[in-house]
Amino acid sequence: MPRALTKLNGPPLPSQPPRTIARGPLALLRFSGRLALLFTPLLILLATAAGLFLLSFGYPDISVSLVAAAEVTTGIALVLALATLYWQIRVRQAAQRGLHSVEERVVDLFESAMDPIVGIDEAQRIVAFNAAAERTFGWPREAALGQRLDMLIPERHRERHRAHVDAFAKTGKTSRRMGGQTVLTALRRSGEEFPIEASISQYLEGGVPRLTVFLRDITDRIRAQSQLAATAARMRGILDSAMDAIITVDDAQRVVLFNAAAEAMFGYAQEEAIGLPLATFIPARYRASHAGHVKRFGGEAPLSRRMAEARIITGLRRNGEEFPIDAAISHLEEGDATYYTVILRDVSARERALSDLRESKRELQELGAASEATREQEKSRIARELHDELGQALTMLRMDVAWCKANVPEAAQGVAAKLDRMETLLKGTVAATRRISSDLRPLMLDDLGLVPALEWLVQNMSQRSGIQCEFSTDDPSLTLPPAHSTAVFRIVQEALTNIAKHARASRADVSVRRDGNDVRIVVSDDGVGFATDDPRKPESFGLLGLRERISLLRGTAAIRSVRGTGTTIEVTLPVAAPDRP
Ligand SMILES: Nc1ncnc2c1ncn2[C@@H]1O[C@H](COP(=O)(O)OP(=O)(O)O)[C@@H](O)[C@H]1O
Ligand SMILES: [Mg+2]
Repeated sequence: MPRALTKLNGPPLPSQPPRTIARGPLALLRFSGRLALLFTPLLILLATAAGLFLLSFGYPDISVSLVAAAEVTTGIALVLALATLYWQIRVRQAAQRGLHSVEERVVDLFESAMDPIVGIDEAQRIVAFNAAAERTFGWPREAALGQRLDMLIPERHRERHRAHVDAFAKTGKTSRRMGGQTVLTALRRSGEEFPIEASISQYLEGGVPRLTVFLRDITDRIRAQSQLAATAARMRGILDSAMDAIITVDDAQRVVLFNAAAEAMFGYAQEEAIGLPLATFIPARYRASHAGHVKRFGGEAPLSRRMAEARIITGLRRNGEEFPIDAAISHLEEGDATYYTVILRDVSARERALSDLRESKRELQELGAASEATREQEKSRIARELHDELGQALTMLRMDVAWCKANVPEAAQGVAAKLDRMETLLKGTVAATRRISSDLRPLMLDDLGLVPALEWLVQNMSQRSGIQCEFSTDDPSLTLPPAHSTAVFRIVQEALTNIAKHARASRADVSVRRDGNDVRIVVSDDGVGFATDDPRKPESFGLLGLRERISLLRGTAAIRSVRGTGTTIEVTLPVAAPDRP
């Protein structure tokens, strides 16, 4: 018996040759050998007795040959017996060598095991303690051997543990996992407790049960598990504090993750949602196209941590309510599996606000249009009143003054001079009244039509500003609905005013043309130009009003300007727009 095993495993085992080595002809040989061995002395005895007996009766010849026969038989039997014995010794030696090498292998395994292995006897005293056990528990083998197993178990668990091991020993079973699902606690020499996993096995040694406990220090695993759990909890916390719903589905589009915002958004508890198909959260009529979308997306290159695409889709709450959601989807390959994560934002409120905003803008535009129309009417009325009433009265006055001047007596000193001054003043006032009146709204626009009014406007601007202004049209008799002609007039007026105010131009061109159902107005100058994308100046409402007027009539405006080269305003107004004033 090797010393190592003795050291490890207490007193040596009585070694027994294996019983199964000889079979068939060998067994027969052995049997006959044993038989010969057994009967050899008896045969010698019998032959000798017969020889002596026959000798005494006077047949010495026979007795001698009998004795010789007995001797020969005995010799053969002896040789047979010796051969059998020799052979048996050889077999036994071979078996023992085999056993030794098995033992060595066991010892080797025992010693090189990564996990602690502790052997105990029926009194729960330690009889084997491998190198891993020394490392794990901190006890040298010499200190552990012969001690009670208790030394490796925290005080409070000893009683229970002992009972458990005893109970196991009584079952006569050969092996069992200890502790079931619960983690056992062991004690190091330093007093530190640590989690272990254990299984126990037993065998009988000369009728006495021997137990071997296989242990595994799972401190690292437990730590890793708890770190993993903490990470998962942190992750869950982040997911649940996200304002957006986050749903992850697997390849089969079944939910595997569902955060708190998703619970609130769709009305399903997380536990209910896990495993449901993604289609549950989409109205039936969109399901096919949505599934196709996700699948198509799956065909693209794998993505992680990147939003692939954002778009508005329709979601379905548990109560059947549909609502708009802004969705982004990303996918992640994990081994063979693909996971899709959709991040969803309920944009009902945003959409509602947007449509409210659109509505209020429309109302404001209508209000603006109405007030503009009223203003236009008012201007027109004042302009006409100024022209007709005041203008007429002033003209009459001027004629009267002229009569007085002609008929003033020579004697009335200084009256003629006064009348001269009055006449000049009246002339100026009449001109001013005309100018104010036509600035308010040229009566030509109502009386003669758009083209004469524009011609007058362009000429008037040219005279006032000194810039050379040209007007051109392809249709001198162009007539538009009142709202449109007013708009065209005001657009050209604003553009020309801007040229006069800002452009420092030498030339301006105005053209108004018919283009199918549209009317196109182009006003360009060769002035200094400006940056059209600059923010609007706080007091500047001219271009804003121009755009507003155009959008009310569902037209389009393009303002192009290059610094140092000039500005072009191009407006297209659809004329066949009967539903707007
Ligand atoms: N034809 C133009 N040439 C150069 N600058 C212009 C022209 N038209 C407009 N601008 C610039 O655009 C600004 C905004 O014009 P507008 O909205 O009509 O306001 P306002 O004329 O009251 O300043 C002007 O202040 C001017 O700087
Ligand atoms: Mg202006």
